[in-house]
Amino acid sequence: MLTENLIKTARDRIASAHSITVLTGAGISADSGVPTFRGEGGLWKQFRAEELATPEAFESHPEIVWEWYHWRRQIISEKRPNPAHEALVSLENACPSFTLITQNVDGLHPLAGSRKIIELHGSLWRMRCMRCGRITEKRSLELPRLPHCDLCRSLLRPDVVWFGEAINPLHLKKSLEACQGGGVFLVIGTSGIVQPAASFASIAKEHGAFTIEINRVDSEIADRDLLLIGRASEVVPQLIHANH
Ligand code: APR
Repeated sequence: MLTENLIKTARDRIASAHSITVLTGAGISADSGVPTFRGEGGLWKQFRAEELATPEAFESHPEIVWEWYHWRRQIISEKRPNPAHEALVSLENACPSFTLITQNVDGLHPLAGSRKIIELHGSLWRMRCMRCGRITEKRSLELPRLPHCDLCRSLLRPDVVWFGEAINPLHLKKSLEACQGGGVFLVIGTSGIVQPAASFASIAKEHGAFTIEINRVDSEIADRDLLLIGRASEVVPQLIHANH
C-alpha cells in the first residue's frame, strides 16, 4: 500500500513543475489487457524475440513475422486506454511544457488523446515500404497476409523499431531535448532494460529533473528520486487529479 505522503510529495512536485516529461513502457498498458514483454505472461516468455522482432527474421520469413504482427494488432484492437493513459492526457492539457515518450507500439496513448507524443519504437498501426519508404497508417484489421505498397508494389513492413535497429534520429533528438528540460521526469511501467530509453531518467536527473517512477515492482531504472510501487492505472490518476 502506497503511503499517502509519497503520493502527496509526487503530486506536489508534478503540480508545481514548469516542465514535465513522461516515459512509458508496456506496464502502462498492462491494465488495458495488453501483454507486456517480460515478467509473468510476457511476450518474450512465449515467443523468441530474435525470430520475430529483427530485420534478419523479416528478411528470411516475412510471412511469419507479419503473422505475429497481425495477431498483436488483433489482440490490441479490442483494448482500450485505461485511467493511466487518460490521466496523462489531462496532464498534457494542464502543463504547457509537456512531452510523452513511449516505448509502446500499441497506439493506446494517441487513442486516449495524447498529442505531444514521441512513439520511440514506432507503432503497430503504421507500415513502411521496404523500397520507397512510404509510411501508411491503418487501424483496420483488413490487411493482406503480406501487405504491399500502393505506390511501388514492394513489400511493407511494420513501422516498428526491431532489435538491432536504430531509433529514428529525429525521435531520439526530440526525446533527448525533452530529458534536458529539468522539472519532473515520470517513468511509468518499464523494466528499464532497453536502450536508449533506459538512460532517459539519468539524463533528466543530470539536467536537474525530479524523477518519479511508477512500477508494480522494482526495475532497472537508475537515478529515481521517488519509487511508487503499484498499478499504473491506480497510481497515475492519484498523481494528477487532486480529488483522488
Ligand atoms: N503498472 C505498472 N507497471 C507495470 C504493470 C502495471 N499494471 N504491469 C507490469 N508493470 C511493469 C513491470 O514490472 C515491468 O517493469 O511494466 C514493466 C514492463 O516491462 P517490459 O515487459 O520489459 O516492457 P518495456 O519496459 O516496455 O520493454 C521495453 O523492450 O521488447 C522491447 O521494444 C520492446 O518497447 C519494448 C522494450
